[in-house]
Amino acid sequence: MTELTMTERIPGRAAPAEREVPRLMTAPPLLRAEGLSKRYGSVQAVREVSLDLYAGEVLGIVGESGSGKSSVLRLLNLEEAPDAGRYHLGEHQDLFALSRRQQREARVRDIGIVYQNPHLGLRLRHSSSGNIAERLLIAGERRFQTLREAAVTSLSASEFPLSRLDDPPLTLSGGMQQRVQLAKATALKPRLLLLDEPTTGLDVSVQARVLDTLRHLQAERAVSILIVSHDLGVIRTLADRVIVMRGGEVVERGLTDQVLEDPQHAYTQQLVHAKL
Ligand SMILES: Nc1ncnc2c1ncn2[C@@H]1O[C@H](COP(=O)(O)OP(=O)(O)O)[C@@H](O)[C@H]1O
Ligand SMILES: [Mg+2]
Repeated sequence: MTELTMTERIPGRAAPAEREVPRLMTAPPLLRAEGLSKRYGSVQAVREVSLDLYAGEVLGIVGESGSGKSSVLRLLNLEEAPDAGRYHLGEHQDLFALSRRQQREARVRDIGIVYQNPHLGLRLRHSSSGNIAERLLIAGERRFQTLREAAVTSLSASEFPLSRLDDPPLTLSGGMQQRVQLAKATALKPRLLLLDEPTTGLDVSVQARVLDTLRHLQAERAVSILIVSHDLGVIRTLADRVIVMRGGEVVERGLTDQVLEDPQHAYTQQLVHAKL
């Protein structure tokens, strides 16, 4: 299987207008993960997964439940240590080789994450603004006024209704909870945004609006995004390139259009046809 590049994008199926096409051939990747492996007991959740993510790019990860998608994201979010692998991000040659303290600093500054389950990303009983403020406190900000303003700015950018600024996520709809997670994840303007099934379980219309917000944020901030979804419609909407996982391994990779319209691997063909 060959690694496809943006220069091979199918003529006439250009990236959505507002998305800047990454210059894959001219700049080194922002993120390069090499040979990631992770085992839980007898389950090899991730097996020698390698991937690149370029500045401003959106990379999708698809695959059936249990294929190791969330495990890859947890490794890249430095929540867990891998059994093997290297993790280059920005100026860091290998984040896995850093001390826990250095990892925490890199994580706060450079990485934001949104989980499918808001309970993993938020304190549901604290105010929504307080959830954002907490992220800034961890980064060292102490002035109340600055915390408040940053919370308002970040929640606005995530198109969260400011009339509900101080409501706890517990009292909000699923779509609103995801907007709070997104505001928290992007409050410190990370270079890398990890999204694990961010719209799964939301009503279709709510999902479409959250996806719109994600597209706006991506276009404005030029953040690089790794999005996991088993919904190929979501991947089609957002991702420049896609990797397909099965049983902890990458079985196919390439431009989203090419992989979804002309899948080479039998497993990808099954995934694509199951969704038609
Ligand atoms: N903390 C854990 N302890 C034990 N097994 C786990 C743990 N996390 C994931 N797994 C197993 O690893 C495999 C991959 O899981 P996961 O990464 O969550 O897949 P996906 O996100 O693609 O559904 C599954 O078999 C899952 O049961
Ligand atoms: Mg998962």
